[in-house]
Amino acid sequence: MTSPTPVSVHRRSHLSPTLEVPTSGPLVDRLGRVHRDLRLSVTDRCDLRCVYCMPEDGMVFRPHSELLSLSELTRVAAVARRLGVRSVRLTGGEPLLRRGLARLVAALRALRFDDIAMTTNGMTLARHAQSLADAGLHRVNVSCDTLRPERFSRIRRRGDLGTVLRAMEAAERAGLSPLKVNVVLVAGRNDDEIIDFARFARATGRTVRFIEFMPLDHEEDWSESAVVPGARVLEEIGAVFPLRADQGRGSAPAERYSFADGSPGAIGIVRSVTEPFCGDCDRLRVTADGMVRNCLFSDDERSLAPALLGSDEDVALVLRQAVWAKRAAFGRDSAEPVMLRPRRSMSMIGG
Ligand code: GTP
Ligand code: 5AD
Ligand code: SF4
Repeated sequence: MTSPTPVSVHRRSHLSPTLEVPTSGPLVDRLGRVHRDLRLSVTDRCDLRCVYCMPEDGMVFRPHSELLSLSELTRVAAVARRLGVRSVRLTGGEPLLRRGLARLVAALRALRFDDIAMTTNGMTLARHAQSLADAGLHRVNVSCDTLRPERFSRIRRRGDLGTVLRAMEAAERAGLSPLKVNVVLVAGRNDDEIIDFARFARATGRTVRFIEFMPLDHEEDWSESAVVPGARVLEEIGAVFPLRADQGRGSAPAERYSFADGSPGAIGIVRSVTEPFCGDCDRLRVTADGMVRNCLFSDDERSLAPALLGSDEDVALVLRQAVWAKRAAFGRDSAEPVMLRPRRSMSMIGG
């Protein structure tokens, strides 16, 4: 779809598309965006089948032999760290399904990232929270799209709400905070729970983030009419619990709002569809099968495999080339941002 809002891209007049990939300095693209955030997908498998992500049956996963090993993941992270990346996020699929995850976290801690986070569906988090916190994980974002037990299985098709809610408590007890709850809103499925989620944020002190549904679902059911705009979320909540915008979004996807009456908790909105934030993007992705991806929506993927047989400089060059090749918005350089479905869906790319 085409958004009415033009993307603001920071253009630097001294940079031109004809320049060669820089071989020193931070990870920068041709538009001057410096990349500081690495999203490492550790598996494409998942124990849920959310409607906005995976089909109920028939998803084909990569054989384990085709995934980056823990030491390869660590090596890529180490190179990225040297190139100025400051924060790292473990994604999937469901990252907790990857064996040895705590060892990976410990290795990342040794690299002294400012922030080590994970996005999880929470199904097995209660069991792993303490060991991950002990290994050096700082915080988690937990996906939870409904607060109604009977609806949970209609949206996520497996698992149950109680397990996810208990996981949030276990994560906080282990010190994995601040805890954020990710809610993908899909019109007609869960957009009648916006106020319930605002109450949940106030009661628990957590940040609830409403995410606009993007055309990254494997079943290709996405349509523009299924998107619940962030503006509507703010309006609905603001009418019941007045909100105050917090300091700027920076390079993060989510805008944050506090409750004007001083209540604990916060609201976030991720307006990827209606207000794209590509102009400030500082994110670089590595898929579980070892491809560097410069954008969720770009099919421009570069394999790390050959470089991993060589030196760290070879690995650095792949990262630099991938970032340098990044387009203005959604993997394109068109004057208006156009969000077109990429070849691979969310769980294969990494959230
Ligand atoms: P924080 O560091 O806690 O703010 O996390 P985050 O928002 O960066 O990470 P999370 O995995 O929780 O991402 C939340 C949602 O933001 C994802 O599910 C995506 O829907 C969206 N998102 C993250 N990165 C991108 C991106 O590069 N482009 C777009 N369009 N959406 C993104
Ligand atoms: N649109 C928006 N967000 C999505 N996620 C998964 N699929 C989609 C989609 N089609 C989110 C999940 C989770 C993260 C891994 O990605 O809710 O927060
Ligand atoms: Fe699994 Fe996350 Fe996809 Fe849901 S959104 S099916 S939890 S990878």
